[in-house]
Amino acid sequence: MSNRTMAAGNWKMNTTPAEGKALAEGVIANAGTPATKVVFGAPAIQLMQIKEITAQHEGYYVAAQNMHHEDKGAYTGELSAAMLAAAGIDYVILGHSERRDYFGEDDDLINTKIIKALAAGILPIYCCGEKLDIREAGNHEMIVGKQIEQALFCLEPEQMEKVVIAYEPVWAIGTGVTASPQQAQDMHQFIRTQIANQFGEGIANNTTILYGGSVKPANAEELFGMPDVDGGLVGGASLSAENFVPIIKAL
Ligand code: 13P
Repeated sequence: MSNRTMAAGNWKMNTTPAEGKALAEGVIANAGTPATKVVFGAPAIQLMQIKEITAQHEGYYVAAQNMHHEDKGAYTGELSAAMLAAAGIDYVILGHSERRDYFGEDDDLINTKIIKALAAGILPIYCCGEKLDIREAGNHEMIVGKQIEQALFCLEPEQMEKVVIAYEPVWAIGTGVTASPQQAQDMHQFIRTQIANQFGEGIANNTTILYGGSVKPANAEELFGMPDVDGGLVGGASLSAENFVPIIKAL
C-alpha cells in the first residue's frame, strides 16, 4: 500500500511566485524526506520555479493544474503537454470539478487530455466526483462510474498504470464539509473495483486513489486510515506549511 500513497496540494489560483516559493520551501523544510510522494499543484507561471525546488528533494514533485489537448497552434492562453514535459513537469491535474463547471470540460475531452499527457511522459491526476443532488438521490456510484468509464476505460493497461485518480465529491470541495471516512472508503472501493473489472486486479491494486474535499490536519489521519484511501488532493489546507505538513505526516 505504501507505494500508492500521495499527498498532493492543489493551490488553484492562489499564491504569487514569491509566496509559492516560500510555501514549497516551507513544506520541504518542515516535512523533510517524506514517507510518501508529495506533489505541489502550482499555478502555471510558477511551474518551472517549483520544479527547480522539488528536483533537489527526494519525494517531491510538481503538477500543472490543467493542460490543453492539442499539440500546438492558435490556442491563446493555453499550454501543451510538450511544453509541460520540456519544463520537467511531473504531473498534471485533469478534470477538476472547477474545470468541468467553469470551463465546460467533459470526460471525453478529459480522456483526450489524459492520452496526450501520457504520450508526453506526464502523469495525469484524474479528478472525478458527484454533485450534492446526485449524492442525495443516491446516484453517486452510477455517476462516478460513468465518469471513470468515459475517461479511463479506453486506455491501454500500460497507460492506466500511470494514472492517479482523485475522488473529489463536489459538495465537499471548499465547503468545510468532508465526506465521512466511510463514505470516502465506499466510493474508493467502488472505483478500485471498476478499475479491476476493466484492467485486472494487479493494476487496480497499484492504482493510487486520492480523496479530495476539505481535507484538513484534523481529519486527514482518519480518512487516510481507510484501506482504499491512498492520500489526498488538498486545496485550502495545502496553502500553508502549517496545515499541509501534518497532512503529509498523516500518511
Ligand atoms: P479543498 O481542500 O479546499 O476543499 O479543495 C479540494 C480540491 O478541490 C482539491 O483539488
